[in-house]
Amino acid sequence: MAEQSDNGKRRGEAYFADEGLWGFIHRSFTKSMGYTEEDLAKPVIGICNTFSELNKCHSHFNELVDYVKRGVWQAGGLPMEFPTISIGEPYVKPTTMLLRNLMAMDTEEMLKAHPIDGVVLIGGCDKTVPAQLMAAASANIPAIVLTGGPMLNGRLNGRSLGACTDCYQFTLEHKAGNLNDEQLATAENAICRSDGHCMVMGTASTMASIAEALGMALPGCAAIPAPDSRRRHMAERTGRQIVNLVKADIRPREIMTEAALENAIRVTMASGGSTNAIIHLVAIAGRLGIRLPLEKFDDIAAATPFLLNLRPSGQYQMEEYFEAGGVPALMKELEGLLHGDCLTVTGRSVSENLRGVEVLDRSVIYPLDQPLDPQGGIAVLRGNLAPDGALIKQTAVSPHLKKHRGRAVVFESPADLERRIDDPELDVDESSVLVLKNAGPKGAPAMPEIGQIPIPKKLLLRGVRDMVRISDARISGTSYGALIVHAAPEAAVGGPLALVQDGDMIELDIAARRLHLEVEADELARRREQWTAPAPHYDRGYGLLYIERVMQADKGCDFDFLVPKELRK
Ligand code: FES
Ligand code: MG
Repeated sequence: MAEQSDNGKRRGEAYFADEGLWGFIHRSFTKSMGYTEEDLAKPVIGICNTFSELNKCHSHFNELVDYVKRGVWQAGGLPMEFPTISIGEPYVKPTTMLLRNLMAMDTEEMLKAHPIDGVVLIGGCDKTVPAQLMAAASANIPAIVLTGGPMLNGRLNGRSLGACTDCYQFTLEHKAGNLNDEQLATAENAICRSDGHCMVMGTASTMASIAEALGMALPGCAAIPAPDSRRRHMAERTGRQIVNLVKADIRPREIMTEAALENAIRVTMASGGSTNAIIHLVAIAGRLGIRLPLEKFDDIAAATPFLLNLRPSGQYQMEEYFEAGGVPALMKELEGLLHGDCLTVTGRSVSENLRGVEVLDRSVIYPLDQPLDPQGGIAVLRGNLAPDGALIKQTAVSPHLKKHRGRAVVFESPADLERRIDDPELDVDESSVLVLKNAGPKGAPAMPEIGQIPIPKKLLLRGVRDMVRISDARISGTSYGALIVHAAPEAAVGGPLALVQDGDMIELDIAARRLHLEVEADELARRREQWTAPAPHYDRGYGLLYIERVMQADKGCDFDFLVPKELRK
């Protein structure tokens, strides 16, 4: 753990006030960049800039950095910008999840290796904020997360469009023959019309909300649209506040306590947040030495009304959430259910931050006593098919599938799925249960977001839009439907999912939290004897490190060596 240096000096001071050779070198090399003696006496504030033209969601970060610097200077700090890797959903192959742990390690090691007294971590796209929170938890240097903000709503024919919920809708309707090429191209141009991350309550918006609910971002940060001038104001305020946080020596481990994690889970459940958030929260907690069993999520979900009317589970998007008061307004509504005494990066408690906050639009944030749904968005399923749990975002499931029994149609791998899903000969109907194997942490690798198994084309053409689908993959936070994901243990390590065969009956009962494979235990034992593990995807490099050391979904998919020993099993 990185602490103040032994002699009680700030970390920056230990570098720049040193009277020996290294002090001379540190000062002279730093002064060569235009900094003066006076500057070197100030707290050093690292600004982690993850700008990249390979990451659309971070395209405006250089400008945000300028505003953070302005705030740091105003408060008497010395801002020093630095890069880490940056991972954006649309490009990274095989999936950004493979690189989340690498980004967390990169960030942690940069923080520990430099004279940084405090840091502003600027993230946005799905995996970047969790990576930065994991790093902050491990490095334990005063830190504030500044998210880049959501895109403005897409607009087309008077309709609000959301990335990427409508990306699926448009391509699906095009495939079903209801949209021509020209209409598809028009939609393509209209959907993403500004800087920022996806503007539905997908993983990016969920993680931005979590950073705020944990107390690691300034109140109100998550929902301000990326191009809105108020995000620049937020950047400047964040720059000022990190200097205060360093002076008060308030560290991430004082903020991200077990109670704060519970607040974040509560806010996620009331928001209809992304299933990915569960993996990330377990991983962040792991860095803090806190075990978050899946039951904790289910218990909090069961006791948290779903209040936020945002897509993909509801109607509106982040722009309307911002106008309704954003995360502080939702937290105000939930205040009676939150741990109000948790410390935050404001230097004040959650309750103190919520003083005077109001919900500004009741069609977006519903009242606690008149919720959209009495229970939170994500349910944890158990049963012989997923002994270590599986997740379903119940708020996005078609009502007729919440309790369902159907015949398995099995795909052995993502490649097998791609090959056969649209085969007119595929023996499938709308009551079938589509099963995808070997798409988990080691099997795929890194659990790509392919748990939204496409509806077979022949059913699509008959108007079928939802089916029960099961996998050890993840789904995008922007997806919808009866999608059972994160089945653990995964098929590639011999989890029961590996043993399912075509024609097996599978029962789903969300209310009872049950996912059951109707195959006798002795038959499963016979199949297990014949099972062989698939060939590993890598024989060298980071990929090999990943598949050798990644933990299962219910453990947060962190590397085992990055969490305390007692959390590795
Ligand atoms: Fe970055 Fe959706 S692509 S948040
Ligand atoms: Mg996403």
